[in-house]
Formats: sequence, structure tokens, C-alpha cells
Amino acid sequence: MYPLRRNQRLRTTETIRSLVRETIITPNDFLVPLFVVEGKGVKEEIASMPNYYRLSLDNLSKEVKELWSLGLKSVLLFVKVDDKLKDNKGTEALNPNGLMQRAIKTVKDACPEMLVMTDVALDPFSIYGHDGIVHDGEILNDETNSVLAEMSLSHAKAGADVVAPSDMMDGRIFEIRSLLEDEGFYNTGIMSYSAKYASAYYGPFRDALDSAPVDLKDIPKDKKTYQMDPANRQEAIRETLMDIDEGADIVMVKPGLCYLDIVREIADTVTVPVAVYQVSGEYAMLKAAAEKGWLNHDAVMMEQVTAIKRAGASIIASYFAKDVVKIIS
Ligand code: PBG
Repeated sequence: MYPLRRNQRLRTTETIRSLVRETIITPNDFLVPLFVVEGKGVKEEIASMPNYYRLSLDNLSKEVKELWSLGLKSVLLFVKVDDKLKDNKGTEALNPNGLMQRAIKTVKDACPEMLVMTDVALDPFSIYGHDGIVHDGEILNDETNSVLAEMSLSHAKAGADVVAPSDMMDGRIFEIRSLLEDEGFYNTGIMSYSAKYASAYYGPFRDALDSAPVDLKDIPKDKKTYQMDPANRQEAIRETLMDIDEGADIVMVKPGLCYLDIVREIADTVTVPVAVYQVSGEYAMLKAAAEKGWLNHDAVMMEQVTAIKRAGASIIASYFAKDVVKIIS
């Protein structure tokens, strides 16, 4: 009478496998990142992100309608800013008629129920490619926070549902929350990039927005003084709990696959929704391997997003969202 338990019994057919499956991917799991540029009729493929595009507002409008029809109901907006509009303080980020502010309105006009989240950080607006104001070789935390709060308010006024600060300054959630409350935007959500690591996986994203830190004397060449050391675990918990105390509605771990231990630990620790950002470098790696015929694109993609959800993510920001939804529908 051995073995008493045969675990393979529940794996014998797809029907029984689907009956006992613990993690199911649905369109509601996804947040779709979108890159917006000035112009008309623009749909430029990003070199290091095959089949992903920078869109002008007219194409953004078409894209969100398509996303909605596929059941994808949340977007995360990023803008590529003209070099002429960049400075050290992100002045253009506060322009009520800036590209981000117009992009928010464009999405809401095209698709009023679409949830609009916006990236809040200085890097796309910074001549130095940093998330904060640079002074004497340093990123000025507190001065940057005031800009981030004003930027968040400006997005809220333009119609953003949720602002998503991705900068990792200390205390910025408190500053943003305070200003939004003071100005009556008490229903504007904050999704904080709480445990954001100083990762080499962001390369393709910086190509997409032309936002990499510049190589100039006295300018930090990386973001290691504000983004987290990939070696650290406890710090991720500390960062996340502080952001919740300061008023974050959703917390995020970023990147995804290399940090699923952190995702699980945070999901077990907090009682707010946990988002995971499967970042540009993760997308690029799979696209490249699949192009070479070395990996089965769709199977690996499904395995990856399932792993992210299984680790504890209730929201997945992913460039694969559309591909995934087409497969599962
Ligand atoms: C900017 C920002 C980055 C990403 C999201 N917001 C890049 C960075 O911090 O340098 C990365 C997203 C990706 O790689 O897909 N603050």
C-alpha cells in the first residue's frame, strides 16, 4: 500500500489541473505602462523594447480604447520630454498644459472609466537624468519633495486618479499626501514605488524616454544614493512600512522577477495592495531570447506573470499586459 499519497493524481488532465490551480491570471491584474510623445500620428518602436511604442496623443487615444476593449482598465503614463524643456528643477513637469497633463485628459476623453496613474519623478524633465534636483554632486531630497508634491497636484488637477512617485526621496509620500489633502484632492490615490532597487534592468526604459543619468563631471552617474541596494531585504520592509504610514494606498516592489522574495515578504507584512513592476529589462530579455528562438515567448511570459502573482502581487505593471490578455481570453 505505498504510496498513500500520489501527488500526480491532481495533475493527470488539464481539467483537473485547472480545478486545483492556485493562481489565475486575469486582465484585472494588470497596469499597462504607456510612453507618450509630442506630435501627430507618431508610433515609434523603442529599439530595446521590440513591439513597444512611443505614442503621440492621437495614437494614445486609440491605444487606450483598444486596451479597454481587451479588459485592460488601468494605465501608467510616462512622457518623453523635448530636450529644450528640460532643466535641473523639472519646471516643465508643473506646466498645466504640459505633455503629461494633456495625456491624462486624452485618456479620460477617450475612455472615461480608464484608471489613470501617472509617473511622478523628475528624470524625464531633468537635464541630468536624475529623479531629483542636483546640487554639488548630490540629489537634494527635501527640495525635490516640494516639486514632487506640486507635480502630483498638477496631475490630480488634470484628472489623474492615482499618482505614482517613482523617485525614492525620503518623506515624499507625506509631502504629496499633505498637499493633495490641503487642496481637496482627498480621493487621489498614491501608488508608491516603495522598494525600488538601483537596478541595471531599467536600461531600455531610459532609452524609451531618453532619461539616463548624463555622464558629466560632478553629476552622479547612477541612482545608488536614492534607489535601494539590490543586496538589501530589511530595508525594503522599512521603506514600505514608512510609505504606508505617510499615506500610500498601494505599495510597489520593482523590478519583478529578481525580487520575488521581497514581494512575498512584503505581501505577508502589509495590509494594502502590493504592486510589482516587471520592468523594461525583463521585457527586453525575453523578447531577445525569443527572437533568437531560444525560448518559447508565450509560455515563458505566462510563467513569469504567474510567478509574480503567486509571490503576492495584486497588481502587475507589465509591458506584456496586452500579449497576456490576448492569450488568456
Ligand atoms: C523613473 C522611472 C524608471 C522606471 C520607472 N520610473 C527608471 C529609473 O528609475 O531610472 C523604470 C521602468 C522600467 O525599466 O520599465 N523614475
